[in-house]
Amino acid sequence: MRIGVLSRNMDYWTTKKIIKAGRFRGHETDFIRTGDVQLMVDDVYFDAFQGSKSFREVGVVIPRIGRSLTDFGVLLLNHLELMGIPTTLSARGLATARNKFATMQRLRGAGLRIPESFLVASKIKAGDVIERTPPPLILKLLSGTQGVGVMKVEKVSDVGPIIDTLVELKQLILIQSYIPNPGEDVRMFVIGDEVVGAMVRKASPLEWRSNIHLGGKGVLYAPTEAEGEMAVKAARAAGVEIAGVDMIMSKEGPYMIEVNASPGFKGLMKATDVDVPGLIVEYAVGKAKK
Ligand SMILES: Nc1ncnc2c1ncn2[C@@H]1O[C@H](COP(=O)(O)OP(=O)(O)O)[C@@H](O)[C@H]1O
Ligand SMILES: [Mg+2]
Repeated sequence: MRIGVLSRNMDYWTTKKIIKAGRFRGHETDFIRTGDVQLMVDDVYFDAFQGSKSFREVGVVIPRIGRSLTDFGVLLLNHLELMGIPTTLSARGLATARNKFATMQRLRGAGLRIPESFLVASKIKAGDVIERTPPPLILKLLSGTQGVGVMKVEKVSDVGPIIDTLVELKQLILIQSYIPNPGEDVRMFVIGDEVVGAMVRKASPLEWRSNIHLGGKGVLYAPTEAEGEMAVKAARAAGVEIAGVDMIMSKEGPYMIEVNASPGFKGLMKATDVDVPGLIVEYAVGKAKK
């Protein structure tokens, strides 16, 4: 079996682990630099190349597409779909997961619990925001990652200046109710229709954002069956087969916060001992062209 691992850099920890897991299982596993891929289409044919090599020789593609190439990545995945090449991430899944409001729309459509979310594209009166979503509230840029672009506004008098500044910077702004929590959320790692591992992420002492990249610590978490089902439902609603689903636990039940389409797994492997890259490869091989 030939497996193609699409990523920006073959030295990324996750990329190396997936390639190693593929080779360990006896598969010819190649790194393909996302930005080097060339797409072609005419009235009779579709193809995608890396140098002179066509993707048609690959049995399955495992995409790990970073933020800097989301737009190209969506076109690339769409192209592979048209060519009939199996992948572990769909174009729709990538496009949805990379937009926090589109994700909220899908999660709501699936009947999952989400924070109250407003999207604004132009100047809005601070009074209206405060009336709808009283502080503390969360402001997010639509396509941030690793906690960057997520802000908490606690004082009523700070709402106006911050929103005005973001509008001035031509950003769409997602205004979200703050779900009270002690600097903790839960990351569920979903592969197909299963949660393969989960951890509570505890924010570093100087933070309220619990991202591992910001110093958050992962601790093994055993989800209830219902929580596991919600994570799988969230991943499916976003159209992401290999997903990092973030949720905040509350008295009312879990709130779905985010679905990540290229989830890291270093922190999760440390917290859970699960062989994530091995499971990713096995899932990919299960989808491959026969
Ligand atoms: N509505 C919210 N209420 C409380 N905390 C939140 C909320 N949204 C995000 N957070 C915190 O901020 C972190 C980052 O937010 P998230 O939407 O997952 O963005 P990113 O893509 O940057 O990880 C979350 O892991 C959580 O700790
Ligand atoms: Mg997140």
